[in-house]
Amino acid sequence: MALDQTQIDAWERDGFLAVPGAVPLEQCEALMARAGEIVDAFDPETVSIFSTHEQTRTSDDYFLASGDTISCFFEEGAFDDEGNLLGDKALSINKIGHAMHDLDPVFDRFSRQPVLADAARSIGLADPLLLQSMYIFKSPRIGGEVSCHQDSAFLYTDPMTVVGFWVALQDATIENGCLWAQPGGHRTPLRQRFVRSPGGGTAFEALDATPWPEPGGPELVPIEAEAGTLVLLHGLLPHWSDVNRSSRSRHAYTVHVIDGTARYPDENWLQRSPSLPLRGFDAA
Ligand code: FE2
Repeated sequence: MALDQTQIDAWERDGFLAVPGAVPLEQCEALMARAGEIVDAFDPETVSIFSTHEQTRTSDDYFLASGDTISCFFEEGAFDDEGNLLGDKALSINKIGHAMHDLDPVFDRFSRQPVLADAARSIGLADPLLLQSMYIFKSPRIGGEVSCHQDSAFLYTDPMTVVGFWVALQDATIENGCLWAQPGGHRTPLRQRFVRSPGGGTAFEALDATPWPEPGGPELVPIEAEAGTLVLLHGLLPHWSDVNRSSRSRHAYTVHVIDGTARYPDENWLQRSPSLPLRGFDAA
């Protein structure tokens, strides 16, 4: 299912595009079941708390090694001061990342559905390579905010090519923390890059002082999405999602795709081992 010209025009104008009904609900349910199995098997001793507010602190070895693993990251409020898990493990996970699309057969199939491959071709990716996958839980009441950012800051290429393929596995609404984006914001400069520091760890490198659109302000619009909706996000598009204050979870899955014709820098936080080269949309 290639995108039609109206959709391509909207993508070029806005820097994002929602395609309702792109992924069958059975596939969404299969992915949710598989994510549940991964969390069940996960031992919380190997902890990394994930928060975009304190990215530097949380960028420990577990995080830096996760580019070619299947790793679970907890919500910030999941533990008490002594490090004891406060609630149910499955409801305390922020996300799973970052290579399920290459290491897990269920995620591999989901990530390489023809609908995603066709969309990649439609928006002009010449040599699409699946770089990163994230399963985001956004659990009721604990699911954290993701502060306003551009994906190219984290997954930079030269020239910039990253596109987010985000799939709503459950209905995403304003109440349960849907995405918000700035229409046309993909024409604003890259503000910063998230890089590996020469001395270890990571850092944000400032590039441009253009202010972020204000959460709750007029520049950001909500992208409410029913389960099965595919949302494409340009790498320079400022986007944000709020805390989930509702009683309903908001599971989503995202794959970030880059163009193999662009240079991938050594200083990017995400580095894959040579034994796990990036692959495109074709089945193995
Ligand atoms: Fe993002």
